[in-house]
Amino acid sequence: MNKKILILGHGYVGDYLYNRLKYLLNYDVTIVKREFLDYTDSSKVERWLTEKRDHFNYIINCSGFTGRPNVDEGEKKPELCYELNTFTPLRISTLCKAYGIDYIHISSGCIYTGYEKQFTEEDAPNFGLFSKVSSTYSKSKHAYELGCDYGLIIRVRMPFCDQLHDRSYLTKILKYNNLINQVNSKTYVPQLLDFIEHILKGGYNCREKDIVNFVHPGALATDKIIKIMKRFNLENPDWEWVQFEDLNCTANRSNCVMSVEKLKQKYEFDIMDEEVAIEAALTNILSDE
Ligand SMILES: NC(=O)c1ccc[n+]([C@@H]2O[C@H](COP(=O)([O-])OP(=O)(O)OC[C@H]3O[C@@H](n4cnc5c(N)ncnc54)[C@H](OP(=O)(O)O)[C@@H]3O)[C@@H](O)[C@H]2O)c1
Repeated sequence: MNKKILILGHGYVGDYLYNRLKYLLNYDVTIVKREFLDYTDSSKVERWLTEKRDHFNYIINCSGFTGRPNVDEGEKKPELCYELNTFTPLRISTLCKAYGIDYIHISSGCIYTGYEKQFTEEDAPNFGLFSKVSSTYSKSKHAYELGCDYGLIIRVRMPFCDQLHDRSYLTKILKYNNLINQVNSKTYVPQLLDFIEHILKGGYNCREKDIVNFVHPGALATDKIIKIMKRFNLENPDWEWVQFEDLNCTANRSNCVMSVEKLKQKYEFDIMDEEVAIEAALTNILSDE
């Protein structure tokens, strides 16, 4: 079947995905910007999707409230955060279900915290809706998972890529003067795109509800990342180690390692080790300069 894909969200992940699907794979792909369609305008979205229902057999939702400059913004604008991360995607997945359109939702693994285990897709989030200390952003992501009954949710964390894009984890680390040394799972965006291609080509079902963690095995702490960056001659002379409490953030942050067993077993995806992925990204960043 010819894949006709609609991407929602013209941001960091959405743009990367559009370029891969359109220009490298020659898919019939459309991306919709906010100027054309505000996803929170539910009646307009419903009218537009109803009209276009036969034009798309996949919707990949890369939109959401991500917070600028960071997720603290969710504490200032909780209604908007819930609207964009919970209610809007719930309405879109419901329309996909009604129209038989496969639905892929890019979400986040920031609904867990702690190091007592590698969190699987079956673990109840401990930094989500029911946590007393979680951020509004994390709660809104968990609320979507609880409310939806359709489509594949791909949980990513701390995405990084082959450019010094301002949304990339590697760029953020390079620019921040104050660093916190925590181990966290991360997502290499080019491999996330490989995975989406694998899903599209492999005929995986994106109608029944499912959740998959898309992160790399071998999660590294910040100090290990710094060491690798220094090997690639990328460093910030003002780097300083601090405690999270010193940063005066409004919202707490999730720090955790996520399991990749389901990604490997059920989705048969050959996922890179995090260190290999970081080195690949840095090699490509430098070769682009
Ligand atoms: N980046 C991260 O660190 C990170 C980490 C874990 C998970 N994720 C998740 O991955 C997904 C993609 O993230 P990203 O980094 O690509 O985010 P992003 O760069 O902030 O992109 C989000 C996009 O959503 C669009 N959008 C927001 N509200 C809209 C509305 N009402 N109507 C139409 N478009 C709207 C934004 O449009 P405008 O450009 O017009 O604002 C933006 O293009 C999100 O669900 C995010 O939570 C991201």
